[in-house]
Amino acid sequence: MEYKLSDYGSLSIEQSPIGSMTADFSTTFRKGIDINLGVGYVNDDTIPSNELRECFSYVLQHSHIYKSSLNYGAAQGSNHLIHAIRDYYVTNGIGNVTQKDFDSLHIAIGANGATSILDAIADVLPKGIVFTVEPMYYIYTETLRRKGYTICAIPETDEGIDINYLKKYIETCDIHTISFFYIITVNNPTTQIITNTCKKEIVHIAEDISRKRGHIVPVIFDKAYEDIIYDSSVEKPESGLLFQSLPCVFEVGTLSKIIAPALRIGYVIAQYSTMFSSIIQRNNDVGFSAPLILQDVSSVFLQKYIKQHREKVMVGYAQKAKTIIDYIHKYLGNFVERVQGGKAGFYVYITFKTIQTHSSSDFFAFLSHTTKNSVIDGEKGNVNPRLLYVPGEMCMNEHSEQQELRYRQLRISFGFEPIEELERAVLLMQQAAEYAQKKSRSRIGI
Ligand SMILES: Cc1ncc(COP(=O)(O)O)c(C=O)c1O
Repeated sequence: MEYKLSDYGSLSIEQSPIGSMTADFSTTFRKGIDINLGVGYVNDDTIPSNELRECFSYVLQHSHIYKSSLNYGAAQGSNHLIHAIRDYYVTNGIGNVTQKDFDSLHIAIGANGATSILDAIADVLPKGIVFTVEPMYYIYTETLRRKGYTICAIPETDEGIDINYLKKYIETCDIHTISFFYIITVNNPTTQIITNTCKKEIVHIAEDISRKRGHIVPVIFDKAYEDIIYDSSVEKPESGLLFQSLPCVFEVGTLSKIIAPALRIGYVIAQYSTMFSSIIQRNNDVGFSAPLILQDVSSVFLQKYIKQHREKVMVGYAQKAKTIIDYIHKYLGNFVERVQGGKAGFYVYITFKTIQTHSSSDFFAFLSHTTKNSVIDGEKGNVNPRLLYVPGEMCMNEHSEQQELRYRQLRISFGFEPIEELERAVLLMQQAAEYAQKKSRSRIGI
């Protein structure tokens, strides 16, 4: 007999593409043989495990300060961590947010990383249109779709988002169907950095719609990678929170990318509002904010180590970005039309001239060793080195006007693999491109 599931349940039966990729990675990945440029893990050696161990001991040894840190926590989060995040912003000039700005701002810690805050937002807002940028963050937009939202993806520009396109689109749609704006400030997958002017314009557009409708249409700025912008020529990002005249901005951050994903610390900063308090209640409903011990450990890390650690992380990623982009130009130069990345985060987004990258392409088959040719794939039980990447098709909306592009783009993540593996990675991609080109020529009889 079958189950009767909710719409969300029915749409969740099949694993999402990223769900299967992560599952496959954790069960079949052969370290030192296969190359992971797909699953966006950070490099294990860059995780400050010694410092975290020290912070862990510190919290447990100071139980008069960190009370009940191995017990249940509160829904909004540990006060120690909330204060530490505020101090981290103020002392490091993050987003130009000052101590005074924090007088009217509140912080809540998610149950399980920024992902859980984004999920909570999707649960507390009415279903409708979500505006985002294309290429899109495929994980969250896929969640939103299953939860009943309609994704409207606006093309990316060198400024971040095509504001004119967005304005024109809004003129043609019923503004009562708009639910919220979801903008990643350093986009995943492209690492395109949104300018302060663009951020400001989005806030103004949302406020204008809010005034017309008589209630707030929120803007979620996801700043997962904003604290790791390493190109010094990039304008200093200002927090979207500073541009609002109505309380419509929610800034979502995470410690995953600058400290360690396993801490599962994500946070939201906003003015106090009904939406803010319903996010906190939602935390309560799924088992409170992140484990208290991890919040307190993170608070000590932020106070003691973040400055030097962040600098180290940025130097490391800047070096890796330059290395991999140089290899891409050297080995794939004839095949590529555009290479994005190298200023922030740990992704490079490649647009090929003609090579197809989607999951049924020859390029993909070569790198996953599913060509069914044993000379290329290797033997069962001894498959040749595989390389994982995220095909661009995952980052494009179903009805995208950029349909043709989606099949010849891909995202690679250089966070996980050590710098010494990057040349082998790009050489494998070069072989895959040559293989795909040969196959396509033989198909059309050249
Ligand atoms: C844009 C973006 N937002 C949020 C997250 C999730 O962060 P967390 O590990 O805190 O859940 C990621 C992780 O890859 C991301 O790329």
